[in-house]
Amino acid sequence: MENCLLPKEYKIISVEKKTEIEWLFRVEFDSPVQGGQFIQVSIPRVGEAPISVSAFDNEAGWVEFLIRKVGKVTDVIFDLKAGDSLFLRGPYGNVFPLEQYKGKHLVVVAGGSGLAPVRPIINHFYENDNSANVDILIGFKDENSIIFHDEINKWKSKFNTIITLDRACSLDGVCEGLVTQYIPYMKLANDFDNMEVVIVGPPAMMKYSTLEFLRRGVPKDKIWVSFERKMSCAVGKCGHCKIDETYVCLEGPVFRYDKAETLFD
Ligand SMILES: Cc1cc2nc3c(=O)[nH]c(=O)nc-3n(C[C@H](O)[C@H](O)[C@H](O)COP(=O)(O)OP(=O)(O)OC[C@H]3O[C@@H](n4cnc5c(N)ncnc54)[C@H](O)[C@@H]3O)c2cc1C
Ligand code: FES
Repeated sequence: MENCLLPKEYKIISVEKKTEIEWLFRVEFDSPVQGGQFIQVSIPRVGEAPISVSAFDNEAGWVEFLIRKVGKVTDVIFDLKAGDSLFLRGPYGNVFPLEQYKGKHLVVVAGGSGLAPVRPIINHFYENDNSANVDILIGFKDENSIIFHDEINKWKSKFNTIITLDRACSLDGVCEGLVTQYIPYMKLANDFDNMEVVIVGPPAMMKYSTLEFLRRGVPKDKIWVSFERKMSCAVGKCGHCKIDETYVCLEGPVFRYDKAETLFD
């Protein structure tokens, strides 16, 4: 019987520095993935970390991870280069329900590296599906923490896109302040049945951005968030990710807010 917890070795295709502490790794992978899912990325004898799928090509056989250098595993991953190996198992978790977003007014709000997991949604509607009317609001700390700059510029040609920086800057087309300051002024669909809002970023950003949309009258079941929770097995066995009775690794990481509100700390 195959051991589902056993990672397989895959080659790194490319490594691209996005910021000082966030690098993009494209890695060979041979299982089909979808936006919203995560993969357990490991280094033998060091450890394992859950990392969101930030882009993928299931036919060509690769996935991209935007990895932030924060600790034991990610420190070692930052020593790797194209041609080296990473160990992967997955994909795990649920997905952003693109079929449900189809043909609607879709608002995507991302905070910092929270852009990585929502990038497949935006690129899906940019590249493959003209049906959704997409508005994008992305907040970064400062100029040096902007990621996927070229892609954001590309999205601007098709979607209303607002970029905010916490601190003032001289960049063209960038607003000063937090994303929450801009939500009250966003043009929303008249009929909330016809809209969906996706919010991904640090917990406080997700919480306060959600509150702004609720204040605008958007129903809880039209708002989607994604949780980064400490995980270990990723298959519902160890309980590390559990909040009350909810296994984030199985039922999430993507949650509709009517469920997610019971999970926020
Ligand atoms: C579903 C999901 C998706 C994710 N997607 C991504 C992604 O796309 N990209 C990404 O970069 N990350 C992502 N993460 C987060 C990532 O899994 C964690 O940052 C992971 O812990 C990194 O592993 P590490 O061994 O490098 O860091 P660790 O060594 O586990 O350190 C992680 C954090 O804990 C702190 N820490 C470590 N040890 C201690 C201690 N003894 N006391 C106090 N604090 C300590 C560190 O300072 C650091 O801030 C995701 C997590 C989940 C659950
Ligand atoms: S990570 Fe082990 S049960 Fe969810």
